[in-house]
Amino acid sequence: MEENNSKKDIYILGIESSCDETAAAVVKNGREVLSNIISSQIDIHTVYGGVVPEIASRLHCENINGVIRLALKEAGMGFQDIDAIAVTYGPGLVGALLVGVSEAKALAYALSKPLVGVHHIEGHVAANFLQYPDLEPPFVCLIVSGGHTHLVIVRDYGSFEIIGRSRDDAAGEAYDKVARAVGLGYPGGPKVDRAAREGNPLAIQFPRGEVKDHPYDFTFSGLKSAVLNYINKANMTGQEISVPDLTASFQHAVVESLVQRTVDCARAYGFKKVAMAGGVSANSALREAMKKACEARGMECYYPAPVYCTDNGAMIAAAGYYEFLKGVRSGTDLNAVPNLKLGER
Ligand code: KG4
Ligand code: ZN
Repeated sequence: MEENNSKKDIYILGIESSCDETAAAVVKNGREVLSNIISSQIDIHTVYGGVVPEIASRLHCENINGVIRLALKEAGMGFQDIDAIAVTYGPGLVGALLVGVSEAKALAYALSKPLVGVHHIEGHVAANFLQYPDLEPPFVCLIVSGGHTHLVIVRDYGSFEIIGRSRDDAAGEAYDKVARAVGLGYPGGPKVDRAAREGNPLAIQFPRGEVKDHPYDFTFSGLKSAVLNYINKANMTGQEISVPDLTASFQHAVVESLVQRTVDCARAYGFKKVAMAGGVSANSALREAMKKACEARGMECYYPAPVYCTDNGAMIAAAGYYEFLKGVRSGTDLNAVPNLKLGER
């Protein structure tokens, strides 16, 4: 029998609808993005100062077919050219997740294609594989999103050892709350990032939280309270608040605690590769500080382009590819799991 050495290319359609972006993408062999369509709902949720879950679900419902159609069109493919469908099934807003999950199940059933349920955070980590075609586990990864602040060792594709985590707010949550308190509104992270560029990070001394006996855990509640107290005090005494100085000083405290723990962890566990993932890894000050800290210690620093840091379908397709290779398949009973934990399937 003739031996077939030519490896077949694998095309995955990735679908993401866990929060306020309806997204779909086609990725080749887990690394090459052929299309990445993101329909953001930001303009609508901005009116309400944050994500309104029911509105998010309804908009996903309205937009998801068009987003998938466009993703295939841009990739120059039809449904039959896809090898598998990967979809975020948790964590996230349940009503939002259900739209993507139901859509993916319907497609997989109608097309007789394999279905792979993907952990949203595993998707964020996999965004690094899109950016760096040669990056392979193991490496240390700082995951910083709206709901997660985790320091992990990525042992293998989709396999994580959790070294540290936030005991209270996630880093993104802290950004969003501070943004609201100073009147910058939603979405907070990018607005604080922009405002802070004009400010002095040393203007106000805010506390860096530490968790006793857990050197790799994070805490942001003390910092958040300090910022809110500062604002209240200024309002009561009629003192003017410099939003650039306040946001820069807050950001400085967050970035310092994120970077210090990450490089300490890499050194302690003997890793020379440090990656970042999640919406907050789009933060310009964090990217700069992590790069500098890694360079100073002879470590390689990896972070995805901003469009792959925040929610997108390409990262779900990339993570789905590695699960697909492992033989992971989801059944037609796949359901949304809003509080899915890292490391769980
Ligand atoms: O990963 P992501 O898009 O969604 C979740 O899985 O949560 O992260 C969203 C979070 C929000 O809290 C948002 O404010 C924050 O990421 N974020 C940023 C920046 N861009 C997004 N935080 C700081 N600086 C940014 N440039
Ligand atoms: Zn996310």
